[in-house]
Amino acid sequence: MKNIVLTGFMGTGKTEVGRILSRRLGYTLLDADTVIEKEQGMTITEIFKQYGEPGFRDIESDVIKRLSEMKNAVISTGGGAVLRQENMDNLRKNGVIICLTASPETILKRTSNNDDRPLLQVDNPLQKIKELLEFRKPYYEKADIMIDTEGKSPIEVAEEIIEKVKGILE
Ligand code: S3P
Repeated sequence: MKNIVLTGFMGTGKTEVGRILSRRLGYTLLDADTVIEKEQGMTITEIFKQYGEPGFRDIESDVIKRLSEMKNAVISTGGGAVLRQENMDNLRKNGVIICLTASPETILKRTSNNDDRPLLQVDNPLQKIKELLEFRKPYYEKADIMIDTEGKSPIEVAEEIIEKVKGILE
């Protein structure tokens, strides 16, 4: 069976929705950021500090390449994974690519309770979220299916995804 790949900005619920989806479908859950942290023995923040964003992106691409080889998996990716065409090509080979969306205000709310996202550690995170969303819009739109998460619980989002991918996973 094809993989379900979750893309989308930080705070759109990829990790939680991925967890629910994998349970409901009996799929393996593969979270790219978690694999990166385990393999590197560092947090994402530490990796950004040590190697910078380009270094992190190289590590991310290598992990995504390997995760893309799996089958029957829900693959949850970091919010910037869509920026490299190579990642999208690898993920698409054996997967349906879903993109979760939310408004900048909702993203701010969902991300403001922790400091593990180096790109949002700035004086005006809302402004930064808006800028990044604007820049990344065409990249997120490369997904096969877009799902708006605004006002929905992760369970509702997971159910909507299951409904939409039914029939195209084989
Ligand atoms: C990033 C998103 C993060 C993580 C890193 C960079 C981004 O993942 O990969 O901090 O560029 O949007 P989440 O989307 O899971 O927070």
